[in-house]
Amino acid sequence: MTAKKRVGVLISGRGSNLQALIDAAKAQEYPAELALVISNVPGVQGLARAEAAGIQTRAIKHQDFPSRETFEAALDAALNEAGVELLCNAGFMRLLTGSFVSRWLNRHLNIHPSLLPAFKGLDTHGRVLRSGTQITGCTVHFVRAAMDDGPIVAQAAVPVLPGDTEDALADRVLAAEHRLYPHALRLVASGQVAVDGERASGMPAGMGDSALFSPPLPGNF
Ligand code: GRF
Repeated sequence: MTAKKRVGVLISGRGSNLQALIDAAKAQEYPAELALVISNVPGVQGLARAEAAGIQTRAIKHQDFPSRETFEAALDAALNEAGVELLCNAGFMRLLTGSFVSRWLNRHLNIHPSLLPAFKGLDTHGRVLRSGTQITGCTVHFVRAAMDDGPIVAQAAVPVLPGDTEDALADRVLAAEHRLYPHALRLVASGQVAVDGERASGMPAGMGDSALFSPPLPGNF
C-alpha cells in the first residue's frame, strides 16, 4: 500500500466531523492518517476527542497574535512541523487570508452544511427553512479565499421535512456530514480527484443518491 497522507484538521469547537474522520482513519486501508489537530479556541470538545484518539493537538489562539498573517504563520509552522500534506477544516470558524489559502491550494478541504453554491455563510439552516427550500444537504469542497467557495469534491442531499426546526434540520444534515467528509477525504487522499481551475473531477459517483437521505424517505420518493 502507498503511504497514508498526513492530514491536519483545523477546528474551533465540538469536533463531531473531526470524530467522523478519526473513526474512518482507523481502518487499515484508509488512505489518510490524522497527524495534527489545531483549534483556535482552547479547551474545546474537539481537542479532547483528538487527545482520546492519541492524535497530536495544538491550541493556537488567534487573539494571541497581532494580525491574521502572524496567526497563520503559526498555523503553517505547526502544520509543517507535523509533516502535514492535506488540511481539513472541520467547523473552523476563522476566515483565512488569500496568502494562506494559496499556500495550501488544492490540498485544503472544508465542509459546509448546505448544497453549495446555495446558502454560503452562517445561519445556514435558518435561511434554508425561511426560504422554503425542500432539499438541502452538505458539501465538501477545496478551500478558496472567498467563504464557502471552491471546487466541489462531494455532496449529499438531505430533505427538509414538514415541521422542521433549525435543530432538527441541523441534526439531519450533520448525520450526512459525518458520512460525507470521510468519503471526500478518501477520494482526495487516494489521488482520485483532479482540480482544473475551479472544477474538481475524477470522483466516482456515489454519495449523491437517495441512499444518503437520512432518515430514509417514506414510500417511493
Ligand atoms: C458543521 O455543521 C460544519 O459543516 C460547519 O460547522 C459545523 C461543525 O460541527 N462548518 P462539528 O464541530 O464538526 O461538530
